[in-house]
Order: sequence, then structure tokens, then C-alpha cells
Amino acid sequence: MTDPISKQLGDVEAARESGRRKMDWAVQHMPILGALRASFEADQPFAGETIGMAMHVEAKTAVLAEVLAAGGAEVAMTGCNPLSTHDDVSAALDAVDGVTCYAKRGVDDEEYYGAMEAVLAHEPTITVDDGMDLVAMVHEDYPELIDTIVGGAEETTTGVHRLRAMDADGELDYPVFAVNDTPMKRLFDNVHGTGESSLASIAMTTNLSWAGKTVVVAGYGYCGKGVAKKASGQNADVVVTEVEPRRALEAHMEGYDVLPMADAAEEGDVFITTTGNRDVIVEEHFERMQDGVLLANAGHFDVEIDLDTLSEMAADTYEARDGVQAYEMEDGRRLNVLAEGRLVNLATPVALGHPVEVMDQSFGIQAVCVRELVENGDAYDAGVHDVPDRLDKEVAEIKLAAEGVEFDSLTETQAEYMDSWQHGT
Ligand code: NAI
Repeated sequence: MTDPISKQLGDVEAARESGRRKMDWAVQHMPILGALRASFEADQPFAGETIGMAMHVEAKTAVLAEVLAAGGAEVAMTGCNPLSTHDDVSAALDAVDGVTCYAKRGVDDEEYYGAMEAVLAHEPTITVDDGMDLVAMVHEDYPELIDTIVGGAEETTTGVHRLRAMDADGELDYPVFAVNDTPMKRLFDNVHGTGESSLASIAMTTNLSWAGKTVVVAGYGYCGKGVAKKASGQNADVVVTEVEPRRALEAHMEGYDVLPMADAAEEGDVFITTTGNRDVIVEEHFERMQDGVLLANAGHFDVEIDLDTLSEMAADTYEARDGVQAYEMEDGRRLNVLAEGRLVNLATPVALGHPVEVMDQSFGIQAVCVRELVENGDAYDAGVHDVPDRLDKEVAEIKLAAEGVEFDSLTETQAEYMDSWQHGT
């Protein structure tokens, strides 16, 4: 087995043990992947398949990779963000039979894309992405792989946006499931997962309280809703900024203050961007902010806070704490940026990503999508596809059974009634 990570680690065995312990803990709280693993081990649906993965390499993702390998796949994996890899988990994963992991924390661009190329050198037949970098690289640099790729699955909103744009341009040459868009993923992972883990990561990184603070949440989509709700639950005052009128109205009706960022900039103590867009917090906003503000991003890419301009504006910058870079302005105000503006719930030194249970759902969908591609890949044309509802329901039912929750079914009469148009007043 290749071992690219171990060279970087002082004590490889200790690193593997530590990573393994994190994975074993996650496994205990991932009943969906547990159930799928049992059926994959028995049926070996992925025998002969090579799965290339580019995802945040931490314990939960490692469990997904291990489950796919247990189903007979050869798995080659790397990270999807230069700061989110847990090196011990990467080492533990690389030691799993059937898995090669190239992910390393703190890589520069060359190493980041080099690791992705190493994954593609395995000639994957299926790609699993978080942010679409792998699909992009296949199409731009390794188009010869497309013929043998059955399909892919995409984890996050930004990746799905990029894929839909590529599809609209007629440039997407194999089918990809929009895992992000399923109810079992988006309503839990984006909302509760991002909300809980972003706030936890900010609190742990800064050792500061939420109570009494004004938290500005940029974007009131799925992630923004979760961040706003959890911040409010921690007794913070929440201000929302939006560009979409219905979402602005939703936030207003939920009881939050809705303001343009130019005004919110003066009020906020903590700013959390969740838009998936660029240049959300820029020079005119930095100019108006109070001394000591915290700036964090939970959107996929590090383009939401304009750090280049902030650097130019700063008279001095220094590391105020691990994971916190202070930018001191000429007038003495200090603006504190967490995790270099990268995903705050994954990229601060103490960040753990989403809670395990939430990722069990998201990765349960990933796993059944991979199975669907292997079993029925021919049924899907090139392009972005919604995950079939039956797969989403299958995962929900496994979770409910694991939680011991029973629920009703439609009677025949009810089902007929719901499907008919003849019954009126
Ligand atoms: P979404 O599309 O539901 O919400 C984004 C919202 O931001 C929309 O309501 C949009 O109108 C608004 N927006 C766009 N530009 C804006 C601007 N300049 N100012 C204010 N609002 C603006 O997307 P979702 O699912 O909430 O995802 C948001 C981002 O978070 C994506 O990049 C996604 O990939 C990422 N994500 C991050 C996770 C994490 O672990 N941190 C987990 C899941 C998603």
C-alpha cells in the first residue's frame, strides 16, 4: 500500500491509532452506514469498481470510504479543502484494505491538485465529490477517463451549482447525482449540521460567548437558517443579510432583523457568511466594523470575505490565537478572521465538522447513490440528476428504525384519495 501521509508524520503508528479511534467512535453513531455496510459486505455490489473521492478527510468521511471498500470497491481518496484534513484519520484510512488516501492538511495549491491527480491515476469508474473539483479535473485534464466513468455523486450546494452551470453549457459528460438537494441531506446537514458545527467551532476557537452578541448571518438559505436559529438559541441577537426577496422576507417573519450588509457591518460582533457567493464582506464593510469583530465563513469556498483587500487595509496582522488572524487597522480596530476565511466548521485547528449523526444521513445518501450508479448507471444520461425519491426514503427508513421511531402508512383509501382529482366538495 502506498503511504504518502506517513512520511509527514512523526509517529505513523500513533497517528493511525488516533485516526482509527476517531473512526471507531463515528461508526458507533452511524447506524445508516452500519446497515448499508452489512448489506454491501454480503452483496459486494462494488466489486471491480474504482471510486475516486475528494471530500473533507475526517472521521465520518473515512467511515463512508471504508464502507464502500467493504462493498468491494477500490477507493482512492483526497481532500476537498487544503485545511480540513485530519492527518491521523488520513493515515488510518490509508491503512484500510482497498483504500489509498492522499489527503494532507495545510497543503499548497500544487500539492492539493497533485493529490487529486494521484486519485485520478487510479482511473475511477465513479467519482464522489464535495465541491466538484474532481469532476472538473476529469473534464479539463483527463477526458479519456470519461468513457469508463459510470457516474458521480456531489455532496454540497456549491458543487451542485457548478455542475448545473456545466450541464447548462453542455459540458458535463457523465451523470452526477445532486446528493446535496435531497431532503435527507439538505434539511439536516446544511441546516442543523452547519448551524451546530459552525457555532461550536467559533466558540472553541475563540473561547468567547454567544450570549449578548450580535451575530450577522449573510445568506438565509439552508445553512444560514441553521446558523441563525442556533445563534438565536444561544441568546445572540441575529441580523440577516440577503439578496433574494423571499428569503429576506422569511428571515423577517422569523423575527430576525434584516439589513443590508453596509448597515449590518456597524452592528455585528460576529459575522458568518453562508451564501456560496463571492465578495459578500468587502472594503466598505470592513471600514464600518467595530473593534474586535469576528469574521467567519461557512460557505464552500474562501471567497465570501475579501481577505486580499483586508490585508491591504491592515497596518499590521498577527495570529491572535490558533486559527484566528487579527488584522489591525490604522485607527487601531482589530478585525479577527477565523480559519483564513475557509469553512469555519471544518478548517479551524479544533474544528470537527458536522455532528456524526448528521453525516450518517448525508453519507447514507452518498452510499446508495453509488450503489444506484453501479446497478442502474445506464439509465442516467450525462447531466445532473436528482436522487430518486425511493433512495432518499430508504435512508430515512433505516434511520427511523435505528432510532426506534415508528410512523404511520397511508391506508389504501387514503392513497387513492391523495392520487385522485375527482373528490371535491
Ligand atoms: P442556499 O442556496 O440555500 O443559500 C444561499 C443563500 O445566500 C441564498 O438564499 C442566496 O440568496 C443568498 N445569497 C447569495 N448571495 C448573497 C449575498 N451577496 N448576500 C447575502 N445573501 C446572498 O445554499 P446553502 O445550502 O445554504 O449553502 C450555502 C453555502 O454553504 C454553499 O457554498 C454550500 O456549498 C456551503 N455548505 C457548507 C457546509 C459546511 O459544512 N460549512 C455544509 C453545506 C453547505
